[in-house]
Amino acid sequence: MEQMLQMTYLWLKAGHIIFVIFWMAGLFMLPRFFVYHQEATPGSPENAVWVEREARLRRIILMPSLIVVWIFGLTLAYSTGAFHQGWFHAKLLLVVLLSGYHGWLVAYAKKLARGERPFTGKRLRLLNEVPGLAAALIVVLAVVKPF
Ligand code: HEM
Repeated sequence: MEQMLQMTYLWLKAGHIIFVIFWMAGLFMLPRFFVYHQEATPGSPENAVWVEREARLRRIILMPSLIVVWIFGLTLAYSTGAFHQGWFHAKLLLVVLLSGYHGWLVAYAKKLARGERPFTGKRLRLLNEVPGLAAALIVVLAVVKPF
């Protein structure tokens, strides 16, 4: 029984990490798409191609990964008692912020589809540092568990 629980935990953790990779890949790709999308004239055929690419990335990669990462992560937390540990509180805060960033990207994609171009390409490139920084901190918290 003990061994079965241990195996379930390891499979859950493997699934969690696999979908974290997919989610992060999507979070890195979408703002890169925006940089190129912004250069297309609103209403042009090229603009329509980017709108479709972004919608597919959101539908096929980003949204399913977000859901699976949260479900597996919360199940792991429940099974390990992480809800009572300091590192997990900090990780949860960062992951909530990262999920908010995901939501912001979706809203930005909708603005681009409407022909709005609120940010410059340079600002979008800078913003692309956000998921990398967040991922580094989250991994250190999850692996090192410094507190
Ligand atoms: C979405 C909400 C998330 C929740 C609720 C969550 C929760 C958890 C929990 C409870 C564990 C097990 C830790 C242990 O071994 O005791 C874990 C493992 C891990 N998580 Fe998450 N996680 C989430 C998102 C993420 C994200 C976004 C990343 C990376 C960017 C990440 C990276 C990892 C890594 C690398 C491990 C393996 C740690 C180890 O075994 O040494 N997690 N996660």
